[in-house]
Amino acid sequence: MTSTHQKKLINNVALITGATRGIGKAVAAAYVREGARVFICARNQQEVAVTVREFRYDSTDAQVDGCAGDVGKENDVCRIVDAVIERFQKIDTLVNNASLLGPRVALVEYPFRQWEEVIRVNLHGVFLLSQEVVKRMIVQRHGSIINVSSGVGRVGRARWGAYAVSKFGLEGLTQVLADEVKEFGIRVNSVNPGPTRTEMRAEAYPEEDPLTLPTPEQITPIFVHLASAQSENLTGQMLEAQDWSEPIN
Ligand SMILES: NC(=O)c1ccc[n+]([C@@H]2O[C@H](COP(=O)([O-])OP(=O)(O)OC[C@H]3O[C@@H](n4cnc5c(N)ncnc54)[C@H](OP(=O)(O)O)[C@@H]3O)[C@@H](O)[C@H]2O)c1
Repeated sequence: MTSTHQKKLINNVALITGATRGIGKAVAAAYVREGARVFICARNQQEVAVTVREFRYDSTDAQVDGCAGDVGKENDVCRIVDAVIERFQKIDTLVNNASLLGPRVALVEYPFRQWEEVIRVNLHGVFLLSQEVVKRMIVQRHGSIINVSSGVGRVGRARWGAYAVSKFGLEGLTQVLADEVKEFGIRVNSVNPGPTRTEMRAEAYPEEDPLTLPTPEQITPIFVHLASAQSENLTGQMLEAQDWSEPIN
């Protein structure tokens, strides 16, 4: 356990989307360990409540809260951001992690309804949250936005459909926003987790042995680095989490 004087995220308030399981939850846990105050969201209200309770149970001084909401809905996004401000008064770090996989079929047979749903959550969600949070970060004149991408958002591959296209959009949004807000001391980067042992990965690769993959906990160091002051000159970059991963002791 990191002792108090070594914690990297003291005074940091982080909003992490999709943090009731998988990578988002592991990033939230790493931020809590580093002394951050953490706010989580996901669609399932009960899972949000259980996850918040778990964090508080694990560490009695953990300052963690959360609320249910769909990142692809404008009203929900405003409600989530208002709730963070009400609880912690500011947002220093936003991790746009929530996403949907969607069907693994060729574009020629991709159902339009599901196309719209995946783009709405994975791309419009990142836009809506970033816009709402950046307004606050501009006033603060600092902040870090971390957009969770994918390998198929950097090199297109067959049967990754709207998921891949949404992640290409996320990469574009990252670069445009990074250029727009650098003058305010706000940095915006994308992180590709690489293959990671989560429910989404198991859904995409049902034949794979999950034990051959890194755990979400192992890929958190890049997320801590990007939230911390140590990365203050890093913006507009496409990063690979597994270049930064550490074995768990
Ligand atoms: N795992 C991998 O190998 C891998 C590889 C490359 C990239 N990624 C990316 O890494 C990120 C996390 O993936 P993961 O594997 O940890 O996924 P996961 O296990 O499926 O977890 C997704 C989380 O997002 C939440 N969520 C889904 N839709 C949401 C919405 N509309 N609004 C708010 N929350 C929502 C889910 O909770 P609810 O269902 O309750 O909403 C859950 O907490 C994603 O951006 C994914 O694209 C993962």
